[in-house]
Amino acid sequence: MGLSVLRPSLSLIPSPLRSRPRSFPLYRRRSVPAVRICCSGAEEALFGFIAGKKRATEVAHSVWRNVLRKGDCAIDATCGNGHDTLALLRMVADESGSGFIYGFDIQSSAIESTRCLLEDSLDPDQRRLVKLSLLCHSKMEEVLPEGTMVRLVAFNLGYLPGGGKDIITLPGTTLPALHAASRVLAPGGLISVLVYVGHPGGREELETVQSFASSLPAESWSCCKLERLNRPSAPLLLLLLKK
Ligand SMILES: C[S@@+](CC[C@H](N)C(=O)[O-])C[C@H]1O[C@@H](n2cnc3c(N)ncnc32)[C@H](O)[C@@H]1O
Repeated sequence: MGLSVLRPSLSLIPSPLRSRPRSFPLYRRRSVPAVRICCSGAEEALFGFIAGKKRATEVAHSVWRNVLRKGDCAIDATCGNGHDTLALLRMVADESGSGFIYGFDIQSSAIESTRCLLEDSLDPDQRRLVKLSLLCHSKMEEVLPEGTMVRLVAFNLGYLPGGGKDIITLPGTTLPALHAASRVLAPGGLISVLVYVGHPGGREELETVQSFASSLPAESWSCCKLERLNRPSAPLLLLLLKK
């Protein structure tokens, strides 16, 4: 496996965020404290990945945990069975009822599956902190209240596990969704993209995500990818951090 850098060289969380903490409005005009950089759990997840003992999803979650804080607003662009939606909500929901997740999927079975998981796992107060939309993620800005900035947008591409393999994410909608994500992301926020390449079309979609990431200006974005070089069909994790 290798940690391969698109542009520019990146430790998982770039130094400007470490040295220049700042506050920014995320959900409506609510101010939150500055980005906190402590990599608790991330080193363990990364080394576990290097050792072949942890999956890319586990690395993604550990990175999210270090980017998000209680009260944040985030987007799950591909709800699927809801595991990422639930993980995100647990990271942002606080006792005062702030924190919010917007979830998207184009399959009603996925939205239903996510709804069921949330119902089984959360109390009603926490469930109110999630809005699920049966909608293409390229239209995320139509759902977000005007002026909303989010700290994280998570994409878990490919097909619905346990569902039909004929409905997959496609470059033609993934690309506009990445553009939309880049617009609604607050400085210090992260676009996390897990890309599966084992199904037809997966490699083309990877190319699309990679060229999008490579085209982002290095002054304002740090983009990197985690890839298992000797397991070519393993999923890749691309992390796009807005400085
Ligand atoms: C790999 S699954 C996501 C897994 C999910 N995050 C989880 O934790 O279970 C990919 C999902 O993307 C959805 N999808 C495909 N095209 C989409 C689109 N244009 N907009 C939103 N979701 C889409 C599929 O229906 C599928 O449920």
